[in-house]
Amino acid sequence: MTSAISFQSVSKLYSVKQGGERRDFKALDAVSFDIAQGEFFGLLGPNGAGKTTLISILAGLNRASGGRVLVHGHDVQADYGNARRHLGVVPQELVFDPFFSVREALRFQSGYFGIANNDDWIDELLDNLGLADKANNNMRQLSGGMKRRVLVGLALVHKPPVIVLDEPTAGVDVELRQTLWQFIAKLNQQGHTVLLTTHYLEEAEALCTRLAMLKRGQIVALASTSELLHEASSNVLRFKLDGALPPSLAQRARVTGRIVQIAASSAEEIELVLAQTRQAGLRPEDVEIRKADLEDVFLQVMSGSAASMPGSAFGDERKQGGTP
Ligand SMILES: Nc1ncnc2c1ncn2[C@@H]1O[C@H](COP(=O)(O)OP(=O)(O)O)[C@@H](O)[C@H]1O
Ligand SMILES: [Mg+2]
Repeated sequence: MTSAISFQSVSKLYSVKQGGERRDFKALDAVSFDIAQGEFFGLLGPNGAGKTTLISILAGLNRASGGRVLVHGHDVQADYGNARRHLGVVPQELVFDPFFSVREALRFQSGYFGIANNDDWIDELLDNLGLADKANNNMRQLSGGMKRRVLVGLALVHKPPVIVLDEPTAGVDVELRQTLWQFIAKLNQQGHTVLLTTHYLEEAEALCTRLAMLKRGQIVALASTSELLHEASSNVLRFKLDGALPPSLAQRARVTGRIVQIAASSAEEIELVLAQTRQAGLRPEDVEIRKADLEDVFLQVMSGSAASMPGSAFGDERKQGGTP
């Protein structure tokens, strides 16, 4: 079956000014991976990793410097119309026409895709997005969260088989996150492919069946969510501490105030960590051991400490992830 999305060695150079001089900055470096039809796929990465750049190239809003992107086999540059019809993109930035009402905006967008009499589906969208009572409000009267819902509606007016959401829940309330994920999960169950970028790793862990991690424009991990969770150190030692960790431990620890969390795969490793803290004259309190979650894996991958894991799903920075 044709891939829903195929990124083939996609590169992007931005020309940036630095100290009065122009130079090229590589925002994407030969990114390659495929997303199968029906997948719920998560693209993760810290700020500035290149997620929005990749998605804007996919959406035809930005031009790649090299490589190509196909949507259901249609090249987003050479065959833009067909690629665009298969895609619904919810952009990271809130952009819309403030003079339209919500319903007018959805009708106008339907018209753009050549769909007349779309009101049944528009009503379903309004219902599912908790917007039914806002249908006649002007866009400029809506709160940020409500505008975000309209953007989702706008992306879905033409029932695209591939739905792309760029940080749809950044800065929105818990209620919207719930409503939105229920709706997107339902669409995914009905066969729509979903590509999502998010900062909320617990969301990605709960929703996505497969994940790619992007770091400085390169794919550094590509695997199913469960593989990623298994291949990372499977346990995390958590304790409270007054005082600074010895440098050997500080490097690999996640520290929030007094709380220290360190990945440790075996009982021996756990003993060793505790012994090292005691040797440094420290007294760990409230010691707990828990299973690693996606945030632990993410931090390991981003800090490079997972790159050398034997036979693992984690590529190093020179390697690129392949196809599913
Ligand atoms: N139009 C642009 N001109 C120059 N640099 C840009 C432009 N857009 C993004 N960048 C840079 O490219 C990198 C990736 O940005 P972006 O794709 O927005 O990352 P993400 O969405 O993962 O936070 C960042 O370093 C950003 O500053
Ligand atoms: Mg972004």
